[in-house]
Amino acid sequence: MECSGKVTPQLMMAVGTAVIGSLQFGYNTGVINAPQNVIESFYNETWNSRFSEPIPQTTLTSLWSLSVAIFSVGGMFGSFSVGLFVNRFGRRNSMLMANVLIFIAAAFMGFSKLAVSFEMLIIGRFIVGLYSGLSTGFVPIYVEEISPTSLRGALGTLHQLGVVIGILMAQIFGIESFMGNASLWPLLLGFILLPAVLQCVLLPFCPESPRYLLINCNEESKAHSILMKLRGTDEVSEDMQEMKEESQQMKREKKVTIPELFRSPLYRQPIFVAIMLQLSQQLSGINAVFYYSTGIFQRAGVSQPVYATIGAGVVNTAFTVVSLFVVEQVGRRPLQLIGLMGMAISAIFLTVAMALLDQLRWMSYVSIVAIFSFVAFFEIGPGPIPWFIVAELFSQGPRPAAFAVAGFSNWSCNFLVGMCFQYVEQLCGPYVFIIFTIMLLGFFVFTYFKVPETKDRTFDEIAAGFRQTGGLGADKYFAAEEFNTLRGDDPDL
Ligand code: GLC
Repeated sequence: MECSGKVTPQLMMAVGTAVIGSLQFGYNTGVINAPQNVIESFYNETWNSRFSEPIPQTTLTSLWSLSVAIFSVGGMFGSFSVGLFVNRFGRRNSMLMANVLIFIAAAFMGFSKLAVSFEMLIIGRFIVGLYSGLSTGFVPIYVEEISPTSLRGALGTLHQLGVVIGILMAQIFGIESFMGNASLWPLLLGFILLPAVLQCVLLPFCPESPRYLLINCNEESKAHSILMKLRGTDEVSEDMQEMKEESQQMKREKKVTIPELFRSPLYRQPIFVAIMLQLSQQLSGINAVFYYSTGIFQRAGVSQPVYATIGAGVVNTAFTVVSLFVVEQVGRRPLQLIGLMGMAISAIFLTVAMALLDQLRWMSYVSIVAIFSFVAFFEIGPGPIPWFIVAELFSQGPRPAAFAVAGFSNWSCNFLVGMCFQYVEQLCGPYVFIIFTIMLLGFFVFTYFKVPETKDRTFDEIAAGFRQTGGLGADKYFAAEEFNTLRGDDPDL
């Protein structure tokens, strides 16, 4: 079913405002990479002022790992709570309310130096993690629900574009001569206040999701008028019809709780696919690069590691833009597959380069190219797609619960990689990326057999595809869909 797929100013304003939340997530992912040394000195000074002795190295390492990783613990809690908010307060108001967390986190982190307290910084990182976890549910849900079917992939990718721009901004702001120095790092961490204020000013001018208004609140006329504004046309009957069908379908279903996602044969297959896609995103090893790239580049013999890290951020952003433009033509499945395979091959090159570094100095260039291509392939598919495809795999009823489960899986693995990478690297040396290669190849095989294409299908059609296959693989899914098309069947009946 093709819906009116125009990019209107109202639609762009709403999506643009929402993805400020994604930017905050990315910014806080990238912000602790560059200024590690200066903040560690602050930890040391604080320790010294309290106990009149320098901080023991092991305590410093643990405190630093905690400061990095507690962000993902916040993310786990935040993402798991998405369902509590979106149905009660609506999609837009949930995003608005979450900014309270940013104000609190900015205060904790921004004043930690003044208060001579690294505990405040760590608490602030946890709170901003909570916000980011909520955002990874709120933003894709809102964006997917207000987008026309034919633009859902492209606009959904804007969430990831917000994330990568956030990472890049943090990398640039974190340069020593900018804010990554002993006196300005509190500003670097407190900067999040500005995007939060901007979002609070703009959100009241953005509409609530019409899908939420119609399906969850039964407010048909409100949904209708918002839809006309978002689509820039009075002719929205097709979208309205589609939403009503979904609403009917939802009335036939019971309220979907998280345990039911796993119990019901209707949802078991899509939730399994959603979880595996999240795992493939995080266990690809991408955050080993974004948390620790400066160290990786250093060990790979790169003379200006901070600039190589920024280079990775630029490549990251550029390829997200590429994905944005091709995702509606090529589809989700091929991009996901190309991305996973490309990352696996890049990881092999990186391993070879790291292993031969002592014999061949020029291998440091190979390692830079390998990391850049690793990042580029990530953004072609495994970066953006898992975030928005969850919204596509589920209809309105189970969507919030599915986001909670998927987000929680994503953030748990994010935590795992953030926490363990340095230790595993100490054990495996230059061969550490082999682990990611093996996982990437496993996820490639899974995607090939189990992940259906969702491009140009309405939410309900996708759900119907899963219903008909009764939890079978992607091959059977396509067979069932083709069969229906040949018969001219309405998949809803
Ligand atoms: C995705 C991941 C996030 C990662 C980022 C890198 O959004 O969820 O963890 O840091 O991509 O671009």
